Amino acid sequence: MVIIAISGAGGVGKTSVAVALAKKTKFKLIHLNDLARKKKFRMSYDKKRKSWIVSVRKLKKEVKKLEKRHKNLLIEGLFAHEFAADVVIVLRCNPKILERRLRKKYSWPTKITENVEAEMIGLIAQEAVEYNRTVYEIDTTEKTAARTANAIMKILNCGKKNYDISKKYKAGRINWLK
Ligand SMILES: Nc1ncnc2c1ncn2[C@@H]1O[C@H](COP(=O)(O)OP(=O)(O)OP(=O)(O)O)[C@@H](O)[C@H]1O
Ligand SMILES: [Mg+2]
Repeated sequence: MVIIAISGAGGVGKTSVAVALAKKTKFKLIHLNDLARKKKFRMSYDKKRKSWIVSVRKLKKEVKKLEKRHKNLLIEGLFAHEFAADVVIVLRCNPKILERRLRKKYSWPTKITENVEAEMIGLIAQEAVEYNRTVYEIDTTEKTAARTANAIMKILNCGKKNYDISKKYKAGRINWLK
């Protein structure tokens, strides 16, 4: 049983990369947002952010059930790094480029500024290392979703001998504030 979590600030490419990775592997893909909607784990609507606040506790319980049914899970979503995963991949993106991606996807300013700010300070990566031991970061700025998925494949295959790969993607190397 292996659980891979893909997290990162909003719009960084979690869903696109997870879909690309699921096509290349036998991992059962779980979109946490979709699961929360289907199972009615949405608690309230945040008007300012135009987004639903979901119960992470209930989602965790549901993922536990899925763990029994599937050999390997790939979970993706804004709070995927809060789950007990074997490997957490935090996708990063240069904030300037992320802003562009977000403008195409969302039209309300709060969604854009909050995510760009979160990315700028590396918030999700910081949180991920608090929750999990094995955290990797990939800079997606100049990568397609398929290429990022390939990088994740390399990380997943990396044994102790493949030190270069693990060092390259190990969390804590991306700093937009420098
Ligand atoms: N590597 C990439 N290069 C350029 N654009 C990308 C890349 N990955 C994703 N995108 C584009 O950026 C947007 C956001 O991607 P996606 O929906 O996969 O992100 P997300 O992290 O799942 O977002 P959210 O947090 O809103 O769920 C999409 O329009 C997608 O086509
Ligand atoms: Mg998504």
